[in-house]
Amino acid sequence: MRIFITAVCLIVMAMLPQFASANPPATIDELAALYNIDKCADCHEDIHTDWKNSWHAQSLTDSRVLRTWRTFIINGLDKSQHPAATRPLLKLACLRCHAPQTMVLPDEEITKIAELVIQAVDDADEGMRKAAKDKLSGININCLVCHNEKGAADGNPQAMTIYGPKGNKDTPHKDEIGYETVQSEMFTTTEFCTQCHTGCDQVPEGTDCWSTKTAYKEYQAKGGDKTCQQCHMEKVDEVPSHRFPGVTEKDFVNKGIDLKVDAWKTTFVNHLTNELFPAVVAKVDLKNNTPHEIPHG
Ligand code: HEC
Ligand code: HEC
Ligand code: HEC
Ligand code: HEC
Ligand code: HEC
Repeated sequence: MRIFITAVCLIVMAMLPQFASANPPATIDELAALYNIDKCADCHEDIHTDWKNSWHAQSLTDSRVLRTWRTFIINGLDKSQHPAATRPLLKLACLRCHAPQTMVLPDEEITKIAELVIQAVDDADEGMRKAAKDKLSGININCLVCHNEKGAADGNPQAMTIYGPKGNKDTPHKDEIGYETVQSEMFTTTEFCTQCHTGCDQVPEGTDCWSTKTAYKEYQAKGGDKTCQQCHMEKVDEVPSHRFPGVTEKDFVNKGIDLKVDAWKTTFVNHLTNELFPAVVAKVDLKNNTPHEIPHG
């Protein structure tokens, strides 16, 4: 854990993203209001429902994430001797991928997020646990995180702009909610996803570090050419799905594995006792069709 914290400290300010607003929000509530997507849901109902059921919608409130963060805060940060290992480090250690919009929040608010995480897991009172989770639920990887903050091809997202794969100028965005619609070629590329789906951006150059991103490079080197979106955002009636299925969906996992088993009966002879036992010979062909390990993207 100490090595990890040191590595995080080394890259500290270099990774702060540009922010898409002239007046950065000062509190968790202001941030949630700025990234509110109720209006998007009014018109994009199906996409919203799919997204709501995806892990991206729970990138801060899923109980696995909350519990791991609680442990990281209490055992990793609070108990560390490293001077930089304070609760605001949660921003660079975890939040920059799980809720990148929080990168503009002042340190006091990051400390509050850390307190809410602990409250959501450990508070003896169920009402208090729920209240903390509700407050955190305004922050996640939502439409505007992908279609604004992480979507500009030049890495410099503009305020009140929706970036998308086509840049359709006939949308009602400008008239109804005041947003421009701008095309960004990033949306159909693997690099869009590996902005966050990488475990290796914090380790020194040359260090061996296996992640979805490095696994994908090996897949490409062997001639693989499917993008993350082609499998994880498969189109239904021309619209890319926003469900982002993964390892927890059986049907989806089955698509990733070709399994062929031939088995036939035989007999096993125990030469010491000269006894015969019924046995089975199995020939198993197992192929991973994904560009990453199974399990684990
Ligand atoms: C570089 C981006 C990045 C950073 C930094 C990051 N995560 Fe994640 N995390 C992800 C991605 C992407 C996934 C989903 C992919 C997966 O499950 O492999 C994920 C998944 C998780 C999960 C669910 C994993 C599971 O298998 O159930 C937990 C828990 C989690 N992260 C905790 C943390 C904690 C704690 C920190 C900070 C110490 C952290 N993450 C920092 C990108 C990141
Ligand atoms: C994790 C990132 C991510 C999130 C979150 C996300 N999107 Fe997308 N969205 C994409 C990507 C990537 C594409 C392009 C996929 C493709 O063309 O293969 C896309 C495409 C779209 C499209 C274009 C559909 C078409 O017909 O081509 C619409 C509309 C859209 N998203 C709306 C939304 C809305 C509304 C939300 C929130 C409810 C949302 N997205 C959340 C990544 C995201
Ligand atoms: C008044 C209805 C309305 C609202 C509100 C709205 N959209 Fe749209 N949006 C549309 C229509 C119509 C299209 C064009 C058809 C399509 O691609 O679904 C569109 C297209 C898009 C696209 C594809 C852009 C491209 O590349 O061509 C994205 C991404 C998108 N919307 C995201 C959002 C987000 C994010 C919000 C909330 C901030 C939002 N929309 C709010 C109606 C709306
Ligand atoms: C802003 C960072 C970010 C971006 C961009 C992003 N993801 Fe994620 N993704 C995450 C995090 C964090 C999680 C883990 C959330 C959780 O487990 O609660 C996740 C979860 C997932 C999962 C579910 C993993 C599981 O355990 O089943 C899939 C699949 C996935 N992402 C695919 C994609 C694809 C494909 C793209 C590109 C179109 C993408 N993501 C873009 C951060 C991101
Ligand atoms: C050829 C189809 C295919 C492509 C391309 C693909 N995936 Fe997957 N992915 C799958 C399948 C199938 C699974 C479920 C089996 C597994 O866990 O590997 C999966 C699982 C995942 C998971 C969940 C893993 C876990 O154990 O938590 C994540 C995260 C993920 N993929 C991200 C990505 C990203 C990011 C890319 C692009 C760099 C990508 N995938 C490219 C098919 C694909």
